[in-house]
Amino acid sequence: MLIRTKPALTESDVTDKSLYLNRRAFMRGAAQVSLAGLVGMSASPAQAARENDSVRAWRKELQPKLDSLRPWAGSTGEEQTPLQDVKRYNNFYEFGTDKGDPAEEAHQLTISPWTVRVDGEVGKPADYALEDLIQPHSLQERIYRLRCVEAWSMVIPWVGVPLADLIKRFEPTSKARYVRFETLVRPEEMPGQKALFSSVDWPYHEGLRMDEAMHPLTFMAVGLYGDILPNQNGAPFRLVVPWKYGFKSIKSIVRISFLEQQPTTTWSLIAPEEYGFYANVNPDVDHPRWSQKTERRLPGGLFGPKRIDTTPFNGYGEEVASLYAGMNPRSLF
Ligand code: MTE
Repeated sequence: MLIRTKPALTESDVTDKSLYLNRRAFMRGAAQVSLAGLVGMSASPAQAARENDSVRAWRKELQPKLDSLRPWAGSTGEEQTPLQDVKRYNNFYEFGTDKGDPAEEAHQLTISPWTVRVDGEVGKPADYALEDLIQPHSLQERIYRLRCVEAWSMVIPWVGVPLADLIKRFEPTSKARYVRFETLVRPEEMPGQKALFSSVDWPYHEGLRMDEAMHPLTFMAVGLYGDILPNQNGAPFRLVVPWKYGFKSIKSIVRISFLEQQPTTTWSLIAPEEYGFYANVNPDVDHPRWSQKTERRLPGGLFGPKRIDTTPFNGYGEEVASLYAGMNPRSLF
């Protein structure tokens, strides 16, 4: 991505980092990796010590639902990215622009209580407590590929609810053609928001067309690997849109607005020629500064990055291509 306070990211930056991650993953060994999958985040005492009270309170609140997670038939059977890598290689500019900054800084974030404002073209606008939003739903586990525009990818077992199930409860009006999402602004807990020359105009915000938001694949995550979301992955409540580049999957959401007009989005305001509104994964449309034909699946193999071909719509074309019938795929970057 691009940010003016630092040199722009290049593909080689990402490669170096993934090689580094590979070595670390190898050192930790396969046994620990699969254990992480089994026990979710109830990991090391050091980690637990960094959790603040609000994290413990939210986990307690959600635990009964986490205990009765439902698997989802559409999950990919691909090898999952180890939890340690999902938690340590992040884009969350509110905590800094380096991939390691969120894991270092996000333990400060207070995630409970958490309120989500729902407004705009809906019959039931309100400030909803997150637990009330989630309460009527059972939680699903969905294993999706996540493809970042920077040409790396992961496979993540998310926990959450389909966005459509939430939207129906808000009773959108016939004027609701787009949905806009907004992330928390709290500079005292988000050091990236205090940066003097940040090119991001906070709050980070994103948008979907209404039919994209209502699509059965569009998911609101409250967890991953069987536990609540780590703060650095967008706790307590984030969007996951698996056929779009990762920057659409906005984290730590505090506001959902239903609109008649297409909203602006954070990255299209920063660099409109590089990051569009649609951001559908497409190997045939290169980023102006690098190819999108392949991706590095993290954490990679023993002897180098695991490079694989990128597929249209990140492999979800059968389900979603019809949403864009008649549109020029080149305009959907
Ligand atoms: N949401 C917010 N609020 N701030 C961000 O910087 N980064 C995006 C997206 N959501 C971002 C965000 C990008 S570029 C990616 S690739 C994904 O989050 C990364 O999600 P992960 O760190 O959980 O893998």
